[in-house]
Amino acid sequence: MRTLTPSSEPVDLIERYAYPPGGGTWLRANMVASLDGAAQRDERSGGLGNAADQELFLLLRGLADAVIVGAGTVRAEGYGPVKPRESWGAVRDGRPPVPPLAVVSRALDLDFDAPLFTEAAVPTIVLTAAAADPARLRAAKERADVIVAGEEALDFTVAVRELAARGFHRLLCEGGPWVLAQVVEAGLLDELCLTLSPMLLAGHPARILNGPPFAVPPEFRLGHALEEDDFLFLRYARSR
Ligand SMILES: NC(=O)c1ccc[n+]([C@@H]2O[C@H](COP(=O)([O-])OP(=O)(O)OC[C@H]3O[C@@H](n4cnc5c(N)ncnc54)[C@H](OP(=O)(O)O)[C@@H]3O)[C@@H](O)[C@H]2O)c1
Repeated sequence: MRTLTPSSEPVDLIERYAYPPGGGTWLRANMVASLDGAAQRDERSGGLGNAADQELFLLLRGLADAVIVGAGTVRAEGYGPVKPRESWGAVRDGRPPVPPLAVVSRALDLDFDAPLFTEAAVPTIVLTAAAADPARLRAAKERADVIVAGEEALDFTVAVRELAARGFHRLLCEGGPWVLAQVVEAGLLDELCLTLSPMLLAGHPARILNGPPFAVPPEFRLGHALEEDDFLFLRYARSR
């Protein structure tokens, strides 16, 4: 074992969280959990974070080409479209001003008249399956860029391939736990950015992954560990 030596030097987060060079598809997830593994506090994730976590959340959006998120999280957190941030500096030079959200949904129980769809600077994407209700699918297509992948449920491998074909290679998944478990199950997760929040919650909240156990658990190596206000910001890349 060794200690992680603290340094008072400020950290260049843009450099620390740069996607790997090379231009290939890279899927990173950003999640927050309490010390006892809770991914929810009062049915949301906001109560787990702090200002630094929020800053990182926004920066990771700025670095991404597209942001994948489950409809459960969109509904629970009241997602609107991504807005450009001054703090992004030049990270989006040569790219659209914001990354689109790519919302995973089969039921398409989404308000297509909400700002998420009507005020997005870059059209919101809907990732769905062929079995989606035809009327809702038509409504989705009027307001969103719809990608149909898979029959009964979204096939995440095909969806990620379709996103890459549209030029979205630097992908960020903001969960929730149900979607993230499937992303990992499909072998698509390259990196996990995990904020460890210094609190204990108990109860029965979801963990950051919610799904059946993996036959072969993927393993990760630590890229870095940053600290602010007793929160840890961990960046792990898949090792196998
Ligand atoms: N701690 C964190 O970092 C963090 C991050 C994000 C969210 N959260 C919390 O997690 C909770 C929400 O997470 P969740 O796991 O319940 O929901 P979720 O993963 O955000 O979304 C689940 C929804 O995604 C759609 N979906 C999932 N798999 C699909 C597939 N294969 N094909 C088609 N659609 C699919 C379904 O939408 P339809 O029902 O529309 O078909 C499903 O209801 C909230 O409390 C939120 O605050 C925590």
